Amino acid sequence: MKHDNVTPYNSDNPKKEQVAQMFDNISGRYDFLNSLLSFGIHKGWRKKCVKLLRANNPKNILDVATGTADFAIECAKLNPNKITGIDISEGMMKFGRDKIEKLDLTKLITLENGNAETVIYPDNSFDAIVIGFGVRNFQDLTKGLSNLYRILKPGGQIIILEFSYPTNPIVKAGYSFYFSYITPLVGKIFSKDERAYSYLMESVKAFPNNGNFVTILNETGFKETGFNSLSMGVAAIYYGSK
Ligand SMILES: C[S@@+](CC[C@H](N)C(=O)[O-])C[C@H]1O[C@@H](n2cnc3c(N)ncnc32)[C@H](O)[C@@H]1O
Repeated sequence: MKHDNVTPYNSDNPKKEQVAQMFDNISGRYDFLNSLLSFGIHKGWRKKCVKLLRANNPKNILDVATGTADFAIECAKLNPNKITGIDISEGMMKFGRDKIEKLDLTKLITLENGNAETVIYPDNSFDAIVIGFGVRNFQDLTKGLSNLYRILKPGGQIIILEFSYPTNPIVKAGYSFYFSYITPLVGKIFSKDERAYSYLMESVKAFPNNGNFVTILNETGFKETGFNSLSMGVAAIYYGSK
């Protein structure tokens, strides 16, 4: 099945609405389950992404699909003037805003309701765009990436962190078992949303990863593209510039 058509609840509602509903449902447990299910590794992955941005010294940063704002908060280490996080789930951003307030970062980071596919920021607005585990959930991946290309400044960088699919047969077997059985079970117990953590595996499997995703970035117009595999291929950092 084409990745755009893999949806959380297989209902007639547009994917965007189903995704927003799913993240609203699990928002209260999202951070806890992220750390539990990834053994905390996800924090290091975001740190690696932010390091890739350091040389360019970006001052105006957009965190797309910001959720509970972990990526936006990590970007604060770059000492920018402004960080904007956008998301379609108000539920997720509520937890993000609480964290930002606790860390006294409200002057630097603003979270706004916004869909990557239809954001109306002017052309060439941002020095850097980051997306953590968001692109896989887009309703229309091509439209979303094209729009993000439009609002990135020439010379600006895009960094995308996303789950991938390991190629080593042994790692792949373990990964498949973990994502197919353990993740949905733990997710069901703690998040109370039966579908959310099964959708995770389905969407990862259907998503174009590694070189295939780099091809999509190239087709969108991004230059200097590539990817770095993380943790034996469990995830990947994709990068490009305009
Ligand atoms: C798995 S969470 C990732 C949150 C955060 N970036 C992180 O690294 O933990 C995915 C987020 O993407 C958001 N999302 C999905 N499609 C979106 C879209 N088209 N535009 C903006 N946000 C979107 C969801 O609402 C959800 O909060």
